[in-house]
Amino acid sequence: MKLTLIAGARPNFMKIAPIIRAIEKENALSGKTISFRLVHTGQHYDDRLSKIFFKQLQIPDADVNLGAGSGTQAEQTARIMIEFEKDLLANPTDLVIVVGDVNSTMACTIVAKKLNVKVAHVEGGIRSFDMTMPEEINRMVTDSLADYFFTTSVVANKNLKASGAAEKQIFFVGNTMIDTLTLRLKDAIKPEIWNNANLKKGEYFVLTLHRPSNVDDLVKFASLMKAIGTQTALPIIFPVHPRTMKIFSQLKEVPPNIFACDPMSYLEFIYLLKEAKAVITDSGGVQEETTVLGIPCITLRNNTERPETVSIGTNEMVGDHKDALIQALDKLANGKWKKGKIPELWDGRTGERIVKVLKTLKF
Ligand code: UD1
Repeated sequence: MKLTLIAGARPNFMKIAPIIRAIEKENALSGKTISFRLVHTGQHYDDRLSKIFFKQLQIPDADVNLGAGSGTQAEQTARIMIEFEKDLLANPTDLVIVVGDVNSTMACTIVAKKLNVKVAHVEGGIRSFDMTMPEEINRMVTDSLADYFFTTSVVANKNLKASGAAEKQIFFVGNTMIDTLTLRLKDAIKPEIWNNANLKKGEYFVLTLHRPSNVDDLVKFASLMKAIGTQTALPIIFPVHPRTMKIFSQLKEVPPNIFACDPMSYLEFIYLLKEAKAVITDSGGVQEETTVLGIPCITLRNNTERPETVSIGTNEMVGDHKDALIQALDKLANGKWKKGKIPELWDGRTGERIVKVLKTLKF
């Protein structure tokens, strides 16, 4: 069996690593049966968003980097498609495996299907039903074309069935991002900012913001930063995504308890998460990681494609209103935050389950 695995942007790397590990384990046990090529689209190209993740997660070097880089939604998607088409024509494969919901996921799915190559979508079926998110469009297009779905939740299975997918295409396997978290937690590294900001376990917040809806408008971004900084006296550690840095550097005032820093490596970031009092975020993956770590997560969005982090886990949607944020922080300060449980199959063994299914597929 010949596979082509696609990775392009930071959250993809945590999702692809356990699949590669499981393939390598399977090959070592049974003699080499599954061969794979790893294609990096180059959507993320900074060492801090890409190279360091390959190193820390022990992902083998990509066989090719398509060098897509940044641009508008259409420019980036188009560049990935043009380059991946050439690559796929030169390197025939039985199955293209895409993960998550970034532009690389959708672009490579379209290319593969137009070349009559089958596609499996890891993390298929999740929906925010918010068409202003580029990721929602990526999810819908990818899922309307993919042949197989590896899902993280019961809700994702329902969404897929509601959109016409057949039962036999859907494999409920759990969450590969959580495989990476549970495997790597023991190797977490204390980040440099710990001493610089004089952090103490359970006495600081972590903040991450990078959604266009929160960070593309200066007035809105400035009011969010002010609201967050004034509602707590505790330090707030803010690893700033490059997209967010552009607007952050235009702020006239930054509350003194907000400590901005460069994007962190994976092992540093999970250290910061696991010791935090709570996390304030608009990320998808962080909602899942905090649920598994049992850390309160205040999500500055109106909807989530990961509803089990709210119904089962420690996550709450507070939108982007100051009042809701104040209420959430009060609840936290009064010790009234829910405890949460871990969703079904988020147990660190998803990569193995995916490989088990792959072995049953006929091409
Ligand atoms: C992308 C994903 C998003 C994911 C996020 C994680 C899409 C539509 N969005 O958003 O779902 O949560 O990655 O980080 O695919 N930039 C750099 N260096 C890089 C890459 C980007 O400086 O290595 C800057 C560029 O100025 C670029 C901007 O960040 O214009 C945005 O990058 P882009 O890949 O378009 O989307 P993200 O916001 O990173």
